[in-house]
Amino acid sequence: MECLTLKDLEDNKTIREQQFRGKMERHPFESTGFRETNRISLDLTNMFDAPEPGSVGREDVKALIPAVLKAHRMLKNNEGDIYDGEVAMTGWQDLPIEITEEYLTGIRSITNELTGEIDAFVSLGIGGSYLGLEATFRALTHNYFNQLTRDQRGGAPEIYFLGQNMDPDFFRDTLDMLEGKRVAINVISKSGTTTETAVAFRVIRKLMEDSCGHKAGRMILVTTDRARGALRGLAGRKGYRTFVIPDNIGGRFSVLTDVGLVGLAMANIDIEEFVAGFKNMRELTWVDDFWRNPALVHAALRHASWSAGKKIEVVATNSVSLYPVARWMEQLFPESEGQAGYGLWVSPSVYSEKLHANGQMVQEGERNIMETFLFLKEHDNEVRIPRSEDDSDGLNFLVEGGRDMNFVNRMVVEGPAYAHFRGGVPNMTIEIPRRNAFNLGQLYYMMEKSVAISGYLSGHNPFIQPGVEAYKKAMFALIGKPGLEEEALLIQDELANMKRIRV
Ligand code: PA5
Repeated sequence: MECLTLKDLEDNKTIREQQFRGKMERHPFESTGFRETNRISLDLTNMFDAPEPGSVGREDVKALIPAVLKAHRMLKNNEGDIYDGEVAMTGWQDLPIEITEEYLTGIRSITNELTGEIDAFVSLGIGGSYLGLEATFRALTHNYFNQLTRDQRGGAPEIYFLGQNMDPDFFRDTLDMLEGKRVAINVISKSGTTTETAVAFRVIRKLMEDSCGHKAGRMILVTTDRARGALRGLAGRKGYRTFVIPDNIGGRFSVLTDVGLVGLAMANIDIEEFVAGFKNMRELTWVDDFWRNPALVHAALRHASWSAGKKIEVVATNSVSLYPVARWMEQLFPESEGQAGYGLWVSPSVYSEKLHANGQMVQEGERNIMETFLFLKEHDNEVRIPRSEDDSDGLNFLVEGGRDMNFVNRMVVEGPAYAHFRGGVPNMTIEIPRRNAFNLGQLYYMMEKSVAISGYLSGHNPFIQPGVEAYKKAMFALIGKPGLEEEALLIQDELANMKRIRV
């Protein structure tokens, strides 16, 4: 006997959407109507004049406007501290208007050809070579994508991610999911030497070669630097198909390059719509009118918050699907801003889940917190709450008021936004009309521009990450990488002489 069926519920609209995309149907993203209903807005109602300490006033932001506008002009002209070596790392700025339809068609034709030959597609990468792709995939697909039938996935293969950590159990568990399946992989690494990605690639490549011999090569895609790097040489020797990460775009700004586009096309996500979202936000944030430019306002508010003593930015969303987008922000901002004692620590959260955990801290802990909501206005599905005869939980009032789960979910942003503000946590809300590729593209461009402006305001280059290099060097030395023998001896000596304290 089946003790749970969904026969009285409507079809899941996320699955319907996947099937729609699988038929290569598209949203009318070029139309004015579509753009009007997919307008991202920034609500600042709870931002100004929260109770002290650390309140941010309109005057604080007003005082920043000249510096922000100057930064904006410099950014548009590729001026200032934006170089990594000889290269100005602002290629992401014009990328949305440089990508051509033919280019996207080229990616589609490769992924369309591959999709019929495989059951599962694995992207290998870490940091900027992983987070944006995973965030976009998860934001736009069913939460249990790989457990759906292929038809429910709109014909797409199962999608997995590896190389984003060094956990042997996670790695092995993922391999178990791939066993016996026809697998293709895309190894994504600009440098080609990132340990996590390289180790994952080595293991999975060996398994593939052991199973399919030279045929494995056809199932290996490589996304890396145009000319340099370890992977480029290997791909040339082995004849792997390659994709490019442009020189002037750093990892965390690369979701619109092949880093994101190949994996998204593999999952049937409309990459043309994704580009259109970026393009739209580029246009909206190109203006030099401060209050009409959401990226500039966003940057100024975060900077003013930091200057007022806020050190933590809780990025909270009412959508489980958007949580990985908050995690993308957790990388974009701290990896760009965290220099010389500057920067907001980004803490991604799903509300209401986290309200039952660090919600207490947000309301009454140290007043060093500001909050940004990623508020999804319209979910794909509606869940009605049924009447209960005994009303033992006292919730029949919701049913009587015609309230569904979606209504309550909206209040898990509106309620905390109000209460946290009253408790001394200034907050702003990024309103995202619905989950689609256009809106994700818009949001990413707005955030990339905001963090670039933040670099000018704080006086640091946001396109480099010298601190990450320091840990890498120590780790490489400790695992015995040739060339780092002296550092290894030094670190080992220091470690050996450290007084160990264990309780
Ligand atoms: O944003 C960045 O630059 C980093 O997070 C990198 O993307 C990350 O370290 C991975 O680097 P790579 O692509 O060289 O493997």
